[in-house]
Amino acid sequence: MNLNRSLSRLVSSQTLALNQKAKALAASGRKIYNFTAGEPDGNTPDHVQSAAIHAIQSGKNRYTDTAGIIELREAICRKAKNIYHRTYSTDEVIVSSGGKQAIFNALYTLLNPEDEVVILTPAWVSYPSLVQMLGANVVEVSSTIEQGFVPDVSAIASAITDKTKLLILNSPCNPSGAVYTQAFVNELVDLLEKHPNVFVISDDIYEYYVFEGEFVTLSKHPKFPKERLIIINGVSKSHAMTGWRIGYALADQRIVSPMKKIQSQVTSNPCSISQYAALEAIKTEDEKPNPFKESFKQRRDIAFTELSECADLRVILPQGAFYIFPNVEKVISKSNLQTDVELCDFLLDTCGVATVPGSAFGLPGHLRLSYGLPIEELRKGISLMKEGLSKLEKKA
Ligand SMILES: Cc1ncc(COP(=O)(O)O)c(C=O)c1O
Repeated sequence: MNLNRSLSRLVSSQTLALNQKAKALAASGRKIYNFTAGEPDGNTPDHVQSAAIHAIQSGKNRYTDTAGIIELREAICRKAKNIYHRTYSTDEVIVSSGGKQAIFNALYTLLNPEDEVVILTPAWVSYPSLVQMLGANVVEVSSTIEQGFVPDVSAIASAITDKTKLLILNSPCNPSGAVYTQAFVNELVDLLEKHPNVFVISDDIYEYYVFEGEFVTLSKHPKFPKERLIIINGVSKSHAMTGWRIGYALADQRIVSPMKKIQSQVTSNPCSISQYAALEAIKTEDEKPNPFKESFKQRRDIAFTELSECADLRVILPQGAFYIFPNVEKVISKSNLQTDVELCDFLLDTCGVATVPGSAFGLPGHLRLSYGLPIEELRKGISLMKEGLSKLEKKA
């Protein structure tokens, strides 16, 4: 069939596909320990649910402003002032159907075919796919577990050419859980000062989940100019609202205006009811802080301790998000398996443990475990995984 040629560059989200496979196996009656989901396991807080019910019952059933209801944009601007110490007007905010659509709108606004986009790997699966869908080129700068999954700024410097249009940052990071240090951000800002044509998307969607120290992001750096910055955030992860589909971008009006045009043609506006729910979530976040953070921290510690006990895994304590990203190269090299993808298949088929291979995030030789499972399941799943690893057939 004569379809769009660019489809050949398009791959489905591996994390969603693996999550669906795990759910299908569970639906067929098998007990599956599902570590693939990129979402909190709890329910949306009651007061947020009530705001949505109220919105439904009070006739909020119509199209909204393309960029989102004004009250929500005002609340986002206030939040931006509090956490980033940056001033944005309501014309510099766009609410979208999830952080993902906000990122897509931003990429569509910024990129021409052949532009280069620097991505720090391991990185969220969708960044490279979205960039490639638009005909631009991905330049990966990878880092290792020894580096805490954050590359040296000198490596980023070497990746920047005169074709570089954009750098995508993500702290705390999916999949590694790494949180940037202030020293890294300072050095990066100094580097970017020398490259005034390079934009930055700072994907701060895991802002809530920082377990040690402060939430460090380039978005907060007073020296990085607003004209070159697109901040992405949302309520999916912070308030267990992944299904409600509300994310947003903050940027200079010259960037937000085309983003609105794109959105007006593609989705008109994000779901009206979800916007009222997100308004309640953001408006009240100081007095009703995220109820999930402490329980994630506890589960992070359990996952780290349990995985550390396995001599063939290398693991570091993630500082944020809700993922842990063990290195499995030693396991693979001792076995008959060739890749982390094969290891994931083995773990799912043999042990009923669903994980995502590091190669989906641009760093083969690792697994991503999303540890938001009830504690008993978390312990049991990791113990089955360790048992399975110990039984792997040894290399002939
Ligand atoms: C790093 C990162 N950015 C953005 C998103 C998109 O979130 P949303 O559900 O709001 O579209 C995700 C979701 O997994 C993510 O991990």
